[in-house]
Amino acid sequence: MRLTVNGRVHEFDAAPTASLLETLRDRLALTGTKVACSRGECGVCTVLLDGAPIRACLMFAVQAQGAAVRTVEGLATGDVLGSLQRAFIAHHGVQCGFCTPGFLMLATGVLEGEPDIADDALQEVLSSNLCRCTGYRNIVAAVRAAIAELRGASA
Ligand code: FES
Ligand code: FES
Repeated sequence: MRLTVNGRVHEFDAAPTASLLETLRDRLALTGTKVACSRGECGVCTVLLDGAPIRACLMFAVQAQGAAVRTVEGLATGDVLGSLQRAFIAHHGVQCGFCTPGFLMLATGVLEGEPDIADDALQEVLSSNLCRCTGYRNIVAAVRAAIAELRGASA
């Protein structure tokens, strides 16, 4: 198998039935992507595939060959956190943190693909991932702050 993750090409043997989630965590040691329900319901395994958020537990790794996979490990540059990561900290969008990698990747898809998203549409997108701790308000505020920073940077 040949998989491109966070800009790096990995080549390895793998069973055709291995999920993308198992492969990221168990073969590539990218354990930032979390596992919980393994049936597409919770969203903790969300990664980007060619810029679109997907549930890594619902996809075979072989299906991701030829695409650019991005995980939470790719958001920071060295020790410098990305804008969404900083916004989640600043706006208290993290409590236990288990859902956070999935939300960060879901929100990265919004930030890059739909920065003009309306409030109700943003809430609908973010409601597709489950968080038991934060009540979502702070997550929405963090994503809005990151979008505002992006707009400021491009103004
Ligand atoms: S582990 Fe993939 S959606 Fe829950
Ligand atoms: S911060 Fe705990 S589940 Fe979201």
